[in-house]
Amino acid sequence: CGIVGYCGLENAEERIIQGLEKLEYRGYDSAGISVINSNKEIKTVKRVGKLKALKEALKDIPLDGKVGVGHTRWATHGVPSNVNSHPQLSQNGKFAVVHNGIIENFLDLKKKLQNQGYQFKSDTDTEVISNLFEFYQEDDFLATALKVSRALEGAYAIGVICQDHPDQLIAIRHESPLIIGVEDNGYIIASDIPALLNYTREVISLKNGELALVEKDSIHFYDFEGHTLKKETEHIDIDIEAASKDGYDHFMLKEIYEQPDVIKKSLDNKFPHGKLNLMDQSFSKEELLSIETIYFTACGTAYHAAEVGMRAMEKLLHKKCQSEIASELKYYQPFIDEKTLLIVVSQSGETGDTLAAMREAKEKGAKILAVTNVVGSSIAREADKVIYCNAGPEISVASTKAYTTQLISLYALAIDFAQKLNCISDQDVEKYIKELYTLPSKVQELLDHREKYKDLAEKIKGAKSIFYLGRGIDYLSAKEGALKLKEISYINAVAFQSGELKHGSIALLEDGLPVVCIISQENLVDKSISNVKEVKARGAYALAIAQKNFKNVQEVSDDTIFIPETLDIFTPVLSVLPQQLLAYETSLALGNDVDKPRNLAKSVTVE
Ligand code: G6P
Repeated sequence: CGIVGYCGLENAEERIIQGLEKLEYRGYDSAGISVINSNKEIKTVKRVGKLKALKEALKDIPLDGKVGVGHTRWATHGVPSNVNSHPQLSQNGKFAVVHNGIIENFLDLKKKLQNQGYQFKSDTDTEVISNLFEFYQEDDFLATALKVSRALEGAYAIGVICQDHPDQLIAIRHESPLIIGVEDNGYIIASDIPALLNYTREVISLKNGELALVEKDSIHFYDFEGHTLKKETEHIDIDIEAASKDGYDHFMLKEIYEQPDVIKKSLDNKFPHGKLNLMDQSFSKEELLSIETIYFTACGTAYHAAEVGMRAMEKLLHKKCQSEIASELKYYQPFIDEKTLLIVVSQSGETGDTLAAMREAKEKGAKILAVTNVVGSSIAREADKVIYCNAGPEISVASTKAYTTQLISLYALAIDFAQKLNCISDQDVEKYIKELYTLPSKVQELLDHREKYKDLAEKIKGAKSIFYLGRGIDYLSAKEGALKLKEISYINAVAFQSGELKHGSIALLEDGLPVVCIISQENLVDKSISNVKEVKARGAYALAIAQKNFKNVQEVSDDTIFIPETLDIFTPVLSVLPQQLLAYETSLALGNDVDKPRNLAKSVTVE
């Protein structure tokens, strides 16, 4: 979800709506805004659906005022509807609250408030917050907010305005990001940086357990006990252009095409002057020697990168590593202790499940290394070491350039560990670095042949389900390809290890069912070709994505896309490209909203 609020001398609606536009990728089930008008009344407009619906509504009911809060929502408690969307007003209508996160003790608080005669209109935990403000109301807005903050448990970023204090806005942070942009004539609060960039680059970040009392010409910070805090303003140096579509029809396509550049950037960051140097982003040899087990964790696409990273690490260290989905790892960590290193992969650095698994492991004494794309994100701040992906802002919900740069970061890490632990020779290190530097132009080569994907999309767009097959590391790429297609085309796509197909799932094969076969590994090519034959024999349509030396693949498949040659462990960087383009074109052919697929959000900060 996205939060934006404003308190200052300018028009609040304009700043809030502009900010919400920039945050819409974080959730878009519904959107709403509350502003205190010149009669000192709170006026609220909310609409289910994308921000467009809210903007349409505001044309007829403009909100005139200089203090307000707005929100774009990804539903957690309660279905997307006008009544469940934010801002949530208190019963007497005096408080308007926008909120990201989940209030864990909301049922207890709701019961307590119901016993006091409060009636709830929505299913949200946010309405509990607004009614709690009313319940605890004192003359002083700050005193009320401190009481509410102490009563809430869970993860939250909150923006709240009150009719009785028409020149104030309060921002509260606990476990969910919230920042404040400082302008000459006021302050903007937001859950993420892009919301501020059109107006200011001077930013103050709230930390967990901090609260800001914002007035038109001043701002004060407190902890939840009410002690005053001193906070510094930071200058944010981000390219606004990087967050716009740049002539492409969709952010996803733009981000796919940025991959040669960002892969190069990511490499240059890890291999300055062509030499591996992760500096303080990695552990020392002594620290590495104290580690017995290496775990990888993440969610979604980042997990697919983590699994490839794990394979690379195993290969270079000759050591068994483990990987687990973050939402599972949080609740099952019997083998994690102070001799464990947990490598956490997350584009946003804010994914609730990933953060929770990481905290649990930290509690058990594990060392944490984060691979993330967002500087200063919660995961980056709480990890012992951080490797940044350098992909630039990724806006499209379906992750593309973040995945390939996560792979680059994980390869660099595997080489770094292997070198420090003397598992590979200097010649091997050189060989790997040289090959990594060929990847940007190989990715470009694939991107230069986009035409064919439109036709392929036409062939598969009517399918009810699609299989993705691969062996070894190709299976990991297939999983990412299937997820990509599923996310934006809504076709049921499932990945199998090619050899496992015959042990059950083969029963599902039928005439014309599309099967995407990834074949990039030298030692597995013959076996993989047999699998394509197996598939074809059942009448399925076989689309192969194969390394360009494997010419035989073309003879047995209906269609073949060749990818350039590279070392086995690096093939996922190339084999994912055709799968990204295929998913993009299929989504487009089906008329879907490519950048904002239904039910998903870019960053899911709740568990
Ligand atoms: C959400 C997104 C996925 C993403 C996953 C992990 O579910 O919809 O596309 O892969 O979160 O996100 P992260 O920011 O941790 O990489």
